[in-house]
Amino acid sequence: MRIDIVTTLPEMITPALETSILKRAAERGLVEFRVVNLRDYTRDKHRTTDDAPYAGGGGMVMKIEPIAAALDDLLGGSSDEAQGNEEAFALRHKPKVVLTDPRGRQWTQELARQWAQESHIILLCGHYEGVDDRVRQNLVTDEVSIGDYVLTGGELPALIIADALTRLQAGALGDSEAPDKDTFSGNLLEYPHYTRPREFRGWRVPDILLGGNHALIEKWRRWNQLRATRERRPDLFAKLELTAKDYALMESEEPAAPVE
Ligand code: ADE
Repeated sequence: MRIDIVTTLPEMITPALETSILKRAAERGLVEFRVVNLRDYTRDKHRTTDDAPYAGGGGMVMKIEPIAAALDDLLGGSSDEAQGNEEAFALRHKPKVVLTDPRGRQWTQELARQWAQESHIILLCGHYEGVDDRVRQNLVTDEVSIGDYVLTGGELPALIIADALTRLQAGALGDSEAPDKDTFSGNLLEYPHYTRPREFRGWRVPDILLGGNHALIEKWRRWNQLRATRERRPDLFAKLELTAKDYALMESEEPAAPVE
């Protein structure tokens, strides 16, 4: 999968893509990142990407021309050029062009799973005072918000989207971290995890995890997932399709290691 990030702040994006799992995924060819500096598509001496809004009002507005030029480049030529060359036009893939914007649709694991199947996504980092609305109307295919809060710009949202997409590429995670085990993969929150030491400041790892009774451990994990989801995320809990066994388990006491 190819992920292009169009930004005025490449210095904010590049280090994150060159770290840890994202870096490894790129090295393995599972994902190809391109960070595009919007200023490279300006034509004036000051490399201006924003301007004052028509009719006044606060803040600056991101200009359409550099954005259109950057997108033309990433999409392989302007649409004008494509006209008259139908073969090239047909061959040209149709990537999603995604504007990060707090007014967009909510980014979710479900959307990440769908979009992880795409071959090419372009993320355009917006800035909240606004992008010239003609960009939204004519040049983007989707608008995404990462949550109901306003950030200084779309760089962090773009990284969040790129991260969620990358870890879903086959082979990006080790086997033991398979994405189908994730929280949200079945609308269930994850069960608690522990590692050594067995005891720290008197806080003990549940005995059940030390006993090696795998059926019992599975039961304990499921019990914790069901209880945590019901308590913390009733919205997700409502979407679950549970079996009679699940209901019985949830109503029972927390599974415990047999007393020796
Ligand atoms: N830009 C600023 N805030 C944002 C948000 N919550 N989601 C996406 N883009 C944004």
